[in-house]
Amino acid sequence: MMDAKAKIEALRNEINRYDYEYHVLDAPTVSDIVYDQKLRALIELEDAYPEYKTDDSPTQRVGGVILDGFRKVDHPIPMLSLANAFNAEELREFDQRVRKVVADVDYVVEAKVDGLAASLRYESGILVRAATRGNGDVGEDITHNVRTIKSVPLKLNEAVSLEVRGEIFMTKAAFLRLNESRDSDKEALFKNPRNAAAGSVRQLDSKIASKRALDMFVYSLAESDQEATRSQSAVIEYLKALGFKTNPYLKVQSIDAVIEACQQIEQTRHNYSYGIDGAVVKVNERGLYKAIGYTAKSPKWAIAYKFKAEEVMTRIEAINFQVGRTGQITPVAVLEPVEVQGSTVARATLHNDGYIKARDIRVGDDVLIKKAGDIIPEVVSVILERRKDQVPFEMISKCPKCSTQLTRSDSEADLYCLNPDCPAQKLEALIHFASRKAMNIEGLGNRIIELFFNEGYLKRIPDIYRLKDHQTSLMTKANFGEKSITKLIDNIEASKQNSLELLLFGLGIRYVGQKVSKVLAMHFKDIFAMMDCDYETFKNIDEIGEKIAESLVAYFARPDTKALIHELVDLGVNTAFKGVVSESGAFQGKTFVLTGKLIDYTRDEAKALIEAQGGKVTSSVSKKTDYVVVGEDAGSKQEKAEKLGLEIWDEAHFKAQLS
Ligand code: IVH
Repeated sequence: MMDAKAKIEALRNEINRYDYEYHVLDAPTVSDIVYDQKLRALIELEDAYPEYKTDDSPTQRVGGVILDGFRKVDHPIPMLSLANAFNAEELREFDQRVRKVVADVDYVVEAKVDGLAASLRYESGILVRAATRGNGDVGEDITHNVRTIKSVPLKLNEAVSLEVRGEIFMTKAAFLRLNESRDSDKEALFKNPRNAAAGSVRQLDSKIASKRALDMFVYSLAESDQEATRSQSAVIEYLKALGFKTNPYLKVQSIDAVIEACQQIEQTRHNYSYGIDGAVVKVNERGLYKAIGYTAKSPKWAIAYKFKAEEVMTRIEAINFQVGRTGQITPVAVLEPVEVQGSTVARATLHNDGYIKARDIRVGDDVLIKKAGDIIPEVVSVILERRKDQVPFEMISKCPKCSTQLTRSDSEADLYCLNPDCPAQKLEALIHFASRKAMNIEGLGNRIIELFFNEGYLKRIPDIYRLKDHQTSLMTKANFGEKSITKLIDNIEASKQNSLELLLFGLGIRYVGQKVSKVLAMHFKDIFAMMDCDYETFKNIDEIGEKIAESLVAYFARPDTKALIHELVDLGVNTAFKGVVSESGAFQGKTFVLTGKLIDYTRDEAKALIEAQGGKVTSSVSKKTDYVVVGEDAGSKQEKAEKLGLEIWDEAHFKAQLS
């Protein structure tokens, strides 16, 4: 029989291997189910034997560490940047400068990953510190977040002490997924994968980073005298052998071959699943670095070949105006379709009239467009030399769909159509109600809704539940098969049983995204309990801010809101929350903040225990906090709790309350 320690060790090795296969090699060997089972088994064993818990265990990747602020980290070996070359000529000049010092060199060419640089420190093979570049001499401690990156080994294959450097990034697919979910939560979108990665790494709560699908390529060793790492290509092989994820490189012998390699990487840039913004050329032999030397900011033995910004010329054929669900008007450029980085672009958002005026964009103009962060089409500039008699852009003042006078938003940036009967808004409202993240009515997508809307079957949300009365005419007029209409009606009927948060989100109340809908549903349990609440009642709920509270009051005060909800109830739509919230738990309705290190529980375990008893854990101390549980080395949160006179529990007291 293996003892617990050996079992824990064996499970860790096994899970580390699975992480490596999946996240570094991109070649998983086990199913998610098996992986989850192993991880759960390890968590249970570590819980039963907390004396064997260590920082390098894969169980420590889940996040949960919440900092009060970022600690500064010195870089004794500065993190430099690179000089740029923008064309073949500049690459040749670089080569000539190098050859003035050393006659004969080999180069290594790597893709330049568009993320943010980070430095990782390992002691005896264990990851102990991760830091951002900062100003090159001093960065910020991001260890808690880097631990959650699955391709970063927490433990190396050798017990060596070293510092490596690389690039933290997010794949294009992960970036798009993240923005999609932020969009449905009504959160600001990230501009490109690099901003998304940087924003995730700069979070105090590592739970956020752990959910963000970050990744990291390691490309250099800060220092090493070892024979095994005499050259850059050997360094990469060595880093690979230690368990790091490295990006592909080419070893070449002449500047002609360097140029060819750079151009080849440039031509295939959109085949990469992550954004690259250039190629990095490095002298291969590390022994030559000192002789070739450094400027104040960058090494003279390396250079970044920056890709030409893929700016493509096209023409603005028209500027259209979209009316969103909330009445927001968005101008959109209709472009003469062009190929940009592997896909055809025919439209680009122009955001608002301020954006258009700042760039003096006019219909008929020839413009340069690019994909921001390699993904989102954007008008970069107008080619003024090619302008003939295009007239200056004039923003519309009336809604393009209902002709209502438009109104400026509080921020003055956006225009809104505030007519509640605007057909464009009504159509968008219907589409939103049925959408996957709201009432999730399969078969009732944009196209069908638009068709039913135009045919007059759907005018308002309750009409969805009346479609069943029109089965025959839908079959004839809308050309629907009997089977598909029956299926659609079944799906519509099934949606009546949805839990409150889906209905709330589906109603499309301004500022009430998926997350807020859930909070409200859990709090009020039924829509009727929230209909007559005042501003203060909403605002006193954690996570409900002023804007949301105002919007809720305004929404429920509208006479048509009450009528709509009663109508839905009469049609059989559920208005109650159906999720499971413990009603009987000792911590029912209480809000906790955890700070400092607990001895017997990880953050996640403590949180789970509190939630199991009906409580809630939030990250910041405020008047709304009921209890602050303090562990070792608690910092400013404890001070703040004391100042506010909140009830503070130590671990022993917390434990006693649990049983
Ligand atoms: S080597 C002395 N290799 O580009 C600096 N950098 O301006 C050595 N980068 O700060 C950097 N991919 O953030 C190197 N394969 C690669 C890289 C790379 C991306 C970034 C890195 C660096 C910046 C240079």
